[in-house]
Amino acid sequence: MIAKLPALGIVISGRGSNMAAIVRAAQCGALPARIAVVIADRAAAGLELAQALGITTETIPAREFADRTAFDAALAAALDQHGADFIALAGFMRILGAVFVGRYRGRLINIHPSLLPQHKGLHTHAQVLAAGDASHGASVHFVTPDLDGGPVIAQASLQVQPADTASSLSARVQQLEHMLYPKVCGWVASGRVQLDGDRVLFDGLPLDQPLIDSITPRTRHAGGAVC
Ligand code: GAR
Repeated sequence: MIAKLPALGIVISGRGSNMAAIVRAAQCGALPARIAVVIADRAAAGLELAQALGITTETIPAREFADRTAFDAALAAALDQHGADFIALAGFMRILGAVFVGRYRGRLINIHPSLLPQHKGLHTHAQVLAAGDASHGASVHFVTPDLDGGPVIAQASLQVQPADTASSLSARVQQLEHMLYPKVCGWVASGRVQLDGDRVLFDGLPLDQPLIDSITPRTRHAGGAVC
């Protein structure tokens, strides 16, 4: 009997380039999951991209809800209706409440454009330049009620160059994200990565620090896909 692939729900707010990298990885078999649905909280450009990739989409317009609790409940209902076993936030720009986060604890991951715990919040590329950091990158972490503060699973990094601007850093970090995020989704889908209290387990053993991915843009395949 062929085992059923776990179902991944992806939640976006914007362009959806990370979502597309995850979808492509699932479609070529590099990520052992099926994409159940892509949901946006607004008329995000990434919805058309998802549809072009043959994925079911939903829009749950946040501004039509009275408060965060009501929006979170609608989002959870949609994810459950589509049978999402785990959820990847991919450029989702809203804060989720503790009830939502608790409901999906250990099954909810996010990608953040910095080497957490450095530079939480918004405008991370400008934060890196203002701080004069030598390195920068992206982190994938389990989501907890602590904003951008959940246990980090893995990171990919780059060296900041003297000529870098916020925009060049954004582009370079996104190249890393498109390789890192599908890979981590695969680890979560296959059960290799798990949340145990406040620790991340990899193959059943606690991580002392995030996995550092050695991927570089040089190893990137055409189009940024992982396969
Ligand atoms: C990504 O760089 C992601 O790390 C960031 O938004 C971008 C979305 O791009 N996420 C956050 O800042 C979350 N706080 P995309 O829509 O093209 O994937």
